Amino acid sequence: MLKTAYCGDLRESDEGLDVVLAGWVHRRRDHGALIFIDLRDSRGIIQVVFDPKQAPQAHAVASEARVEYVLQVEGRVRRRRAGTENASLATGAVEVQATSAQILNSAKTPPFYINEDVDVDETLRLRYRYLDLRRQRMHGNIVLRHLVTRKIRGYLAERGFVEIETPVLANPTPEGSRDYLVPSRINPGNFYALPQSPQQFKQLLMVAGFERYFQIARCYRDEDLRADRQPEFSQLDLEMSFAGQEDILQLIEQLYIEIGRELRPDLNIPVPFARLSYEEAMRRFGSDKPDLRYGLELVDLTNAVRGTPFLVFKSATDSGGTVEGIVVPGGAAFSRKEIDALTETVKTYGARGLVSIAYLADPANAGEEQLRSPVLKFLGADHARALGRVAGARAGDLLLIVAGVGGAPAKDAGSSGRVKPALDALRRALAAKLGLADPNTLQFCWILEFPLFEWSDEDERYYSVTHPFTAPLDADREFAADPGAAHSQSHDLTCNGQEIGGGSIRIYQRSLQAEVFRALSLSDEETRERFSHMLEAFEFGAPPHGGIAMGLDRTLALFAQDDDIRNVIAFPKTKSASDPMTGAPLPVDPAQLDELGLRLKDP
Ligand code: AMO
Ligand code: AMP
Repeated sequence: MLKTAYCGDLRESDEGLDVVLAGWVHRRRDHGALIFIDLRDSRGIIQVVFDPKQAPQAHAVASEARVEYVLQVEGRVRRRRAGTENASLATGAVEVQATSAQILNSAKTPPFYINEDVDVDETLRLRYRYLDLRRQRMHGNIVLRHLVTRKIRGYLAERGFVEIETPVLANPTPEGSRDYLVPSRINPGNFYALPQSPQQFKQLLMVAGFERYFQIARCYRDEDLRADRQPEFSQLDLEMSFAGQEDILQLIEQLYIEIGRELRPDLNIPVPFARLSYEEAMRRFGSDKPDLRYGLELVDLTNAVRGTPFLVFKSATDSGGTVEGIVVPGGAAFSRKEIDALTETVKTYGARGLVSIAYLADPANAGEEQLRSPVLKFLGADHARALGRVAGARAGDLLLIVAGVGGAPAKDAGSSGRVKPALDALRRALAAKLGLADPNTLQFCWILEFPLFEWSDEDERYYSVTHPFTAPLDADREFAADPGAAHSQSHDLTCNGQEIGGGSIRIYQRSLQAEVFRALSLSDEETRERFSHMLEAFEFGAPPHGGIAMGLDRTLALFAQDDDIRNVIAFPKTKSASDPMTGAPLPVDPAQLDELGLRLKDP
């Protein structure tokens, strides 16, 4: 090694030690006589002092060095002079007095600061990802990722799980997101698909008798990207035979609690994790991934508004729609402008408007002059008071209401007014505005019993809400008569308003699986073509089984307290699915296409 110690490891107990260090110039301060260099390596930063009187050669090297130069320094660890300690550095009690030094490599001036936590344009960061990863926060995130996956592997191995790799060149599947396709040269006209998840393989591993499988699996989905979505991402994927849903929930819950305790003991993780049925989550929060760090629950005012002359409410109730609201504690103090901004928020989520009623006194006995609402004259004071009482508003509170026209949210949902998504967005906006969500709390919540199918007006058929291998609730085994009413033995894990994992107890009998395919209106032909291997496997003694896949990137973003999963992935893609560093995706040589039997369509 070109070094005998790591910069970041030196402590007071090393006083007097002679060391050879090697690393990058993080910061350099030339005080005329003395030069100070903060030398950085993979473990941290140490201050090195270059004194021209004691070590003229080393001082000359330090004069020449610039940020990000690669240096090797010999010297002795000494305690810093009283009053010059740096509490923000782990090594801040000591420094190294250089005796000799050499430049191992020079560096161009980096395109952005590596030694300061400043915002840098995303494309620039990705173009120079190797420099971006030198930044402390990014380095810490990637190391945390290593520690989390190491923890996962140990935890699962201790419990008898076997780590098994599954193919990346897999079979295309019709359900789910769009596939990334890979043409086969040897089988012209045929394609592999990169797996959206190892779903089929992990179930086949259960048929194969492994009983407990896991994998840190790369998944590929060609979908529109956002802060929490990448075209390739990683799952902690696992499957268990002879296990019930409760076993899967306990296993993951305990794993996440231990990850938190061991790697982020400073974060607050309420236990046991909350649990809500899908129906309850939608009813109380308008979302299947509600942020439970704050209240602001939805109140159903549909019955309470019946009989009001106000047209907005009347047309909602007359058409079988709903009227729902949120009470904002202390919100009566909001200005017109603040309410207008919230109105804009709900409008972008499909609501037509937002009714506000401020209660300057308790709704039970508020005088008319103590009610403030732009629609008071349409609504009438009695109704305004009644709504406040039903909603549980108190003096000083604000009631915000969205009315939606009846019918399921369809293609033209924007114009029909979608109450739940609008109020979900309103909850989030209010929490952000009022600072209600504690950033140091990870509030996990299981969402159970999703609907088994959802109807598509466009395609006039049902789709699986999760995937077609999900078992219905025992009580909903006879789903064929009314597929839309059936619920599944599914489980999503959510945290702070994000979905971080999902899975289910699976179907393992061939007949039940065939019934699901029928409900999905898949022809026998399609079923045979796409899933014959699954159906066939189920005929050879498939055990009862179930599992889950955790979004590893989202998990890391939570534990790293970062709101963009790209910050926990070493080499992510931009929002347009490209890599500014390597240039991927790129055009290929026509000869390569020819070999694959492919020709590009004229643009
Ligand atoms: P699902 O599709 O819900 O389930 O995926 C599981 C988890 O993976 C994460 N995730 C993503 N993370 C980053 N970028 C993406 N594009 C992305 N898509 C999904 C989410 C999600 O909760 N095979 C089933 C699981 C099972 O049934 O066992 C599956 O893949 O955190
Ligand atoms: P309008 O009759 O369209 O002028 O609306 C009167 C008031 O009701 C305005 O303050 C609108 O923002 C509000 N409003 C209109 N449609 C809805 C709706 N679907 N839900 C809640 N408020 C609405």
